[in-house]
Amino acid sequence: MTSATSKEVRTLPPGPRAPALWQTLAWMSRPGAFLQGVHRQFGDPATIRTYWTEEPMVLFSGPDAVREVFALPAAIAPAGQSWEFVRPFAGPHSILVIDGDEHLRERRLLQKPFHGQQMRALAPMIAELARAEFATWRGPVNTLERMRALTLEIMLRVVCGARDEREFEQLHAAVDDALEGVRSLPRVLAMAVVMKDLGPRSPWGRFRIAVERFDALLYELLARRRDDPDDGASVLSLLVGQRDEDGNPPTDQHLRDQLVALLMGGHDSSAASLAWAFERLARNPEIQARLREGDPEYLDAVVKEVLRVRPALTIAPRLLLEPVQIAGHTIPAGVQVAACLWLAMRREDLWPDAGAFRPERWLDGSPARPLSWIPYGGGVRRCAGAPFAEMEMREVLRAAAELDFRPARPASERARRSMLVVVPDRGGQIIVD
Ligand code: HEM
Repeated sequence: MTSATSKEVRTLPPGPRAPALWQTLAWMSRPGAFLQGVHRQFGDPATIRTYWTEEPMVLFSGPDAVREVFALPAAIAPAGQSWEFVRPFAGPHSILVIDGDEHLRERRLLQKPFHGQQMRALAPMIAELARAEFATWRGPVNTLERMRALTLEIMLRVVCGARDEREFEQLHAAVDDALEGVRSLPRVLAMAVVMKDLGPRSPWGRFRIAVERFDALLYELLARRRDDPDDGASVLSLLVGQRDEDGNPPTDQHLRDQLVALLMGGHDSSAASLAWAFERLARNPEIQARLREGDPEYLDAVVKEVLRVRPALTIAPRLLLEPVQIAGHTIPAGVQVAACLWLAMRREDLWPDAGAFRPERWLDGSPARPLSWIPYGGGVRRCAGAPFAEMEMREVLRAAAELDFRPARPASERARRSMLVVVPDRGGQIIVD
């Protein structure tokens, strides 16, 4: 790949002059304020420099520019290369890190289970798990922690098809170990610096061991499900039934990579979005009350509005292998371009009173302008689990509507980064009465 020359880098759209270290800290600890500050000062587009990616990143948020970013062909702007750092867990054939025809083939296979009838059949299971979770809520609750537990349980039971308690507990412990290794910032940074195995006690060594343990359990589970299928009762059973263009069933390695991609794509992002839902609902008792009335259209509006005002992912990045023109700007090769999901959904010119949490805006009959509501990214890389994510949020929030809760502190929680997602900084703390 050609990297941008220093002259080309100097002609990138303007952005903060602060050192990359400072920008990285702001990006991690106050992502919402950082992005909004950049937008206020430099407009659209703007260039940021963080240790998140080796290259400078040009952020776009206007719908026309966003359309152009999402339409960039994979040969010029592969998205898989922007997620390179997940490869050690995701696996070399994971949909997250591959590009081009291989990616499209994989996407066609992976999306099949997430259509209509088959997915609706999974909803009652999710509702039941959510009701069991909420039955234990009394007093102070850290909703982020609880939603991580619930969405992981949903992933393991409904997606991976863990049946009995032993299967579930074993997988759960193994995933916890692997995720524990990558969730805290100091550890991620330590691993990024020394991405080699310095023994079983080093962060990277511990992570490798946790992944191997998880893989071994997953392969055992696959063997059991091939012997005794569960007929559409889990996403895994639908994946086992896939056939490629030549009619071949998926290999175990392939299924492992698919399940891990769904787990990585779908666990923390759903948990963060649900924690934000509690954070927002706790501060808006009138919205909680209306939700309790059970109108499905209103529930849908609440889900959409949470995803707009507090998207779990802030950017959809693509690494440029060739220079491109976006919204009239020439961007050189060797630079990351990103649709900035956070800014796109906070633009006052597109969303009146953009910072306000107002589900009613979805009921006014004025549909959002295309490519202004983009919590799932877009183009060929748009979130493959979006229908599942929305169904899951609807079922969980429907069950939560029975609860009476208020914020632990009146001030809104600020956003901070945890691994790949943006979460409420105090964990979406509520008091359940
Ligand atoms: C509210 C929850 C979720 C949000 C906000 C979200 C958002 C996103 C975003 C922004 C992307 C990148 C899109 C791009 O680069 O243009 C993505 C990709 C992806 N998501 Fe989600 N996601 C959510 C839940 C899920 C769930 C539940 C699953 C699986 C069951 C899932 C599976 C995936 C996969 C496999 C990809 C990679 C797609 C590809 O590279 O082709 N996501 N998601």
